[in-house]
Order: sequence, then structure tokens, then C-alpha cells
Amino acid sequence: MITINDEKRQAGETAAQLITDGMTVGLGTGSTVAYFLEALAARIREEQLHIIGVTTSFKTAAQAQALGITIVDIDDAPTIDLTVDGADEVDVQMNGIKGGGAAFLMEKIVAKNSKRIVWIVDQQKVHQQLGSFPLPVEIVPFGHGKLVAEFAQQQLHPVLRLKDGEPVVTDMGHYIVDLHLEVIDQPEELGKYLDGRVGVVEHGLFLNIADEIIIGQEHGPAFLLRQNLQQ
Ligand code: 5RP
Repeated sequence: MITINDEKRQAGETAAQLITDGMTVGLGTGSTVAYFLEALAARIREEQLHIIGVTTSFKTAAQAQALGITIVDIDDAPTIDLTVDGADEVDVQMNGIKGGGAAFLMEKIVAKNSKRIVWIVDQQKVHQQLGSFPLPVEIVPFGHGKLVAEFAQQQLHPVLRLKDGEPVVTDMGHYIVDLHLEVIDQPEELGKYLDGRVGVVEHGLFLNIADEIIIGQEHGPAFLLRQNLQQ
């Protein structure tokens, strides 16, 4: 029987086949992306590809460097041809929630500067509607208690993300609040509400961003594609 990790590996290896010589590639974050990085590094070695990576977290930067993938700062990359990233939950309209790995601010910046975005997921993450995965919101530490109280008053069920009893601090120096919503009926409206709150740096709703989603599953990968990429 195929496991979740097999599905992740299959999705990651399939995405690695999309990379062509000379590309600048956005490198996402997470355990599924780790499989992609391994497969990409193997192709670079075996086929002597010239690939430059733009990373979305310190962790990915360290893994990419250990695998021998050349990386550059996003501001030194004139274009990002293709970004491959994971997601925590996706819906059938190809919207997603990201940020389980606390890297979604950098991931969204890299995504917004990419020509093409491919997500790689296992099939347990595909749902009719978003919300079962708690929605991460990255906030500045100053006054975070006030913001958490406001979210609670708005019935958004916030929980400050902790590790060893201390707030998790992102690579960009912020805290994360996870909103336990169960179902998100109006993702656009929720995104606008969060964008408008002072102290919110970014949220993990990635709406209308992915061009393609590769879903690892037992009988080979399935693909969700936006219309403009279909052949
Ligand atoms: C990190 C992310 C990851 O892409 C997401 O958490 C998926 O991770 P994994 O592949 O380990 O399930 O958004 O911020």
C-alpha cells in the first residue's frame, strides 16, 4: 500500500521532470519539497543542468546548498521561471492554505514573482472546501496579544503557535497565529479582512495563485491545471 510519504515523493519527483536547462527555479519549503529537491539535484548532477534556485526559507536554503544546488537572493534573480512548492490544503478550485511550516511569507513573495507555480501535494490534502487545516497568519510580535484578542472576538478561533512554550518565530522575525475555522466559506473576504489588520504581515490563504497542482496517489500522479496551461 502506498503511504503519504510515497505520495509526496511521487509528486516531488514528477515536478522535478518539469525543470529544463537554464531555468531559475523557486524552491518551496516542507517535506514534499524535500523530495523535489533531491530529485532536482540528481537531475542537475546526471544531466549537467544549469539551474539557479531562489529559496523560500532558511531550511530550504540549507538543504539546497547541501545538495549542491546553486542559490541566489530573490533580488538578484531577474526572473523566476517556475516555482515548486507544497501546500497544507488545496480545494478543487486550486486555492490553498500554506504555512504549516511557517514559511508562507517568503513563499508568497517568491510565488508572486514567478512566471509559473506548481504545487505538489499528497491526496489527503485535497478537499472540496478550505478550512480544515488551521489558517496561519503571520503577525508582528509588538501588540500580538491585542490582535489575537480581536481575532477571538471575530470568532476566528486564534491560537498563537508555540514551540517549547515560546512563540514560534519565523525566518522574518514574526509570530504566527493559527485560525481554527473548520470551514472557510468566503476565502476572498477573509483574506481582505486579514490584509486590512494593522500588525498582520501576511496570511496563508493562497487564492488563484497555483497554475498546476500535482497530486501524488496510488496509481500515478493526478494533475489539476488552470485553463491557460492546458494543452
Ligand atoms: C510551509 C508550507 C509547506 O509547503 C506546507 O506546510 C506543506 O508541507 P509538507 O510538504 O511538509 O506537508 O506551506 O510554510
